Amino acid sequence: MYDHLTIVDHPLVQHKLSLMREKETQSAVFRQLLREISQLLAYEVTRELPMTTQEIDTPLQKMDAPVLAGKKLALVSILRAGNGLLDGILELIPLARVGFVGLYRDEETLEPVQYYFKVPEALEDRLVIAVDPMLATGNSSVAAIDLLKKAGARNIRFLCLLAAPEGVARMKEAHPDVPIITASLDERLNENGYIVPGLGDAGDRMFGTK
Ligand code: URA
Repeated sequence: MYDHLTIVDHPLVQHKLSLMREKETQSAVFRQLLREISQLLAYEVTRELPMTTQEIDTPLQKMDAPVLAGKKLALVSILRAGNGLLDGILELIPLARVGFVGLYRDEETLEPVQYYFKVPEALEDRLVIAVDPMLATGNSSVAAIDLLKKAGARNIRFLCLLAAPEGVARMKEAHPDVPIITASLDERLNENGYIVPGLGDAGDRMFGTK
């Protein structure tokens, strides 16, 4: 079982994350690092996927080989920054079903506003991995998980690159059944809702916007 918060402290993850935090790191490199980290985080978040066996023929003999069991998992990207995590994970789990939740953060109230929602069918039978690089106030993450539960999801994990203590607490209060897997628990949020020390606006850094 997962604790409510799992920090993946693997040296490769931590090294790549430090490169991403550096303000001089260019968008193309930032995206590549995020893709690489997403795969290392996906390795952790899928550690307990159910398995079964299937009879196969190796060149030498038959064997009951371990394979993934159950319905294909669903990856749900919380737009737009979630897509930076999604791409790498899809490379690793190409048969996953994919959904999108469009939420933007009102810069004044910091409250999430929904503009898009499209998810795979039969969410109730799938492991659902919601991805968003930054768990900051937790407002949009909580709102996204609310929507996924309304759509039937019962087994959800939340994968992010950085988390602030405020966001972790908010998620724990609203969705104690949803484990969070992250590369770092940073110090705090600043007065603008940014994670400190953080890496700035993940979407802007990924796509070169400002
Ligand atoms: N979203 C971001 O992209 N960065 C933060 O620091 C907080 C929320």
